[in-house]
Amino acid sequence: MKGRIAVYPGSFDPITNGHIDVVKRALAFFDKVIVVVSGHSRKNLLFTTEERVALIKAVYNENTRIEVDSFNGLLVNYLAEKGINRVIRGLRAVSDFEYEFQMVLANRKLNNNIETVFLMPGEEFFFISSSVIKEIALLKGDVSSMTPKVIVEALKKKFNY
Ligand code: PNS
Repeated sequence: MKGRIAVYPGSFDPITNGHIDVVKRALAFFDKVIVVVSGHSRKNLLFTTEERVALIKAVYNENTRIEVDSFNGLLVNYLAEKGINRVIRGLRAVSDFEYEFQMVLANRKLNNNIETVFLMPGEEFFFISSSVIKEIALLKGDVSSMTPKVIVEALKKKFNY
C-alpha cells in the first residue's frame, strides 16, 4: 500500500457519529485510514465482529480512502502484519485520558515504533459513546442523531422494535 496510512482500532460496537468525525479529521493528514474492529474487547459486545465490520462497510460504502478490517489478539501484531505504525484514537474528555495513556504505553512496550495520534471530535460528539447509544436503543429511545441510519436500523433489529 502506498501513501500515509493509519489504523483506527476500536470496538465500534456500534460505530458512532463521534468515530465518524474522528475518521474525517484523520483523513486531513493521512491518505488512507483503516478502521479496524477488535475481536477481543474488555467490553460487553452487542454485535459480532462480522456484524460490526459489515455495518462500518455499509456506512463508508465505496470510499476509497477508508478500509474496514478486523483483528483478533494484539493490535501490535496486526500492525506488524500490515507494516503500519501509525494509530489513530479519539479523545473526548479527560476521563478518556488514563485509559488511552495506559494503552499507548503498553503498545510502546510491545513495539517502540508505533505512534498514536489523538484527535478530538467536535464538541457536539463529546457525550456520544457506543455504550450510551446501546443503552438508549435498549430502552427504545431515539439515537438517530448519534449514529448513522444503517446503525439505527441494526439496533432496532437487535432490540426488536
Ligand atoms: O473502542 P475501544 O474498546 O476503546 O478500543 C480498544 C482497543 C480495541 C483499541 C484495545 O482494547 C485493543 O487494542 N485491543 C486489542 C488487544 C491489545 O492489543 N491489547 C494491548 C493494548 S491495551
